[in-house]
Amino acid sequence: MRNVSERTLAVKGSPIRRLVPLANEAKKRGIHVYHLNIGQPDIPTPKAFMDGVRNASIDVLSYSPAPGISETIEALHDFYADMGVELDEGDLRVTIGGSEAFVFALQITCDAGEEILVPEPFYPNYNGHAIINGINVVPITTKIEDGFHFPPIDEIERLVTPKTRAILFSNPGNPTGVGYTREELQGIVDLALKYDLFVISDEPYRELMYDGHATSILEFPELGQNAILVDSISKRLSACGARIGCIVSRNKDVMAAVNKLTQIRLSAPTFAQHGLVAFLKDPNYKQEIEAIKTKFHARRDTLYDALQTIPGVCCRKPEGAFYIFVKFPQIDDSEEFVKFMLNDFDLDGETVMVAPGAGFYATEGKGHDEVRIAYVLEEPKLIRAVEILKAGLEAFVEQRERVAATAG
Ligand SMILES: Cc1ncc(COP(=O)(O)O)c(C=O)c1O
Repeated sequence: MRNVSERTLAVKGSPIRRLVPLANEAKKRGIHVYHLNIGQPDIPTPKAFMDGVRNASIDVLSYSPAPGISETIEALHDFYADMGVELDEGDLRVTIGGSEAFVFALQITCDAGEEILVPEPFYPNYNGHAIINGINVVPITTKIEDGFHFPPIDEIERLVTPKTRAILFSNPGNPTGVGYTREELQGIVDLALKYDLFVISDEPYRELMYDGHATSILEFPELGQNAILVDSISKRLSACGARIGCIVSRNKDVMAAVNKLTQIRLSAPTFAQHGLVAFLKDPNYKQEIEAIKTKFHARRDTLYDALQTIPGVCCRKPEGAFYIFVKFPQIDDSEEFVKFMLNDFDLDGETVMVAPGAGFYATEGKGHDEVRIAYVLEEPKLIRAVEILKAGLEAFVEQRERVAATAG
């Protein structure tokens, strides 16, 4: 029998979802699991969006136009104009989530065997799709002590080779919550211009920035043809299931390639585009997004403060998104720790699932003492989850010591 392709074999399962079967087993045993492993907010999707979906008068659920429904494109142009970014006809196409937009960006900027620079820890699906497309991710290692900001630009410059085609990052960042400053992005923009690289900026969390301003890559007009924005409504509208995002570039060749790719994948979801148009036409839409941000801001502060009660914990307060990347020096294998929490531990019938850190790195050996925590639940639940994590860490260390003593 023929085996599956090498490239699919090379893709690792998502560190965010891979251990979910263990959580399901724990639930079967009657244990309540706080899911802080996945960036799925519990906040209701805005009513105007859902009304737009419900009220869509559709007799035939046909394919929508490949580039996106014209009203969706217009509404998104207005959305960016409100941000101070004027787009020309053809600069924006609707995609199936931000996921499709970054896959398009990877495929359009790189051929197989070429390289893309990505600050690590990074959103693991970048690596999965890079592997599938034969593209090599070259990590720019960032450190917890620096709040995961970029290292000095000369360190990044040393990674550029004749095969480098692009720099890809999320801003604010998943999994770290880093919000890059205008100055550090200027350094990236200058580097990109020096070596004629594309900058692919993935900004689904742009409105979820709590300290300072989230600077969009579209705010650097000098980058012009080399800028590609990946965007999504999943997080800012708590509409992950809508599967609507977009790709934006002023580069006509890039957009011509996007047009072809949208045609061969047919169309983005129809109902959800009606929801998005209704939402963006609602005069209160900015307040709705602001209300979502306010909730996450409070959750960030609550979670950060609660984590400080765990002995030895190492983390910086993230500036944005809804993740915090945390080092627990008492563990050296965070995947084992997550398994322990799901298989062997509960505090009064409850446990917590977080995402093990190693899967967010390309560099072997990194992230084994780190986990990503998504603050996607209400504050009392976050406080309780940290209480459980703290007790779980103690129990994990004790169990390790017992095993070591027995072995010794
Ligand atoms: C940085 C980043 N980019 C893209 C995505 C994918 O988003 P979408 O639901 O729009 O496909 C996610 C989802 O978690 C993300 O965190």
